[in-house]
Amino acid sequence: MLVMLCMLAIACHTAKKAQGPAYELPEAMKPEVKTEYAKLCDKGKILYDMNCAKCHNTETKHASLIPDFTQDQIRGYEIRVSNPKHEMSLLEEQITPEELGLISTFLMYKKKTGITMVKPAKADAAK
Ligand code: HEC
Repeated sequence: MLVMLCMLAIACHTAKKAQGPAYELPEAMKPEVKTEYAKLCDKGKILYDMNCAKCHNTETKHASLIPDFTQDQIRGYEIRVSNPKHEMSLLEEQITPEELGLISTFLMYKKKTGITMVKPAKADAAK
């Protein structure tokens, strides 16, 4: 599993170089800190794609678009995940706090797609 994640990370990293920076990191961040955050975001993206995309992404002909979660939504989600009793229907028990942290970092800094999070229709089917 870890090997697979590493390979994916390398693949994403290579793809990213071709397209320029993939994340919107604060201007004030030092370059070396940006590099570290970009790595965390890469890991978070892989975890997001595996665990969250199927319910939350908007499919178009050419792409699978990730919604722009607001900071409040991300924080709210983290709080809910740390109280699993409150939320039985999502797949959250499979996600460690560390993984969730990476996903949150990714969602916080990913390039905006202009799509806001709407209640995913697929969720009912997945329940
Ligand atoms: C089975 C489908 C499903 C999966 C998988 C799923 N979600 Fe959701 N998510 C939902 C639904 C439905 C809602 C809206 C209803 C709700 O808040 O319970 C939601 C709401 C959210 C919200 C908004 C929370 C708020 O308080 O406003 C965030 C952020 C979120 N999901 C992030 C994630 C992340 C990150 C993952 C992967 C770790 C994920 N979701 C996986 C179905 C899913």
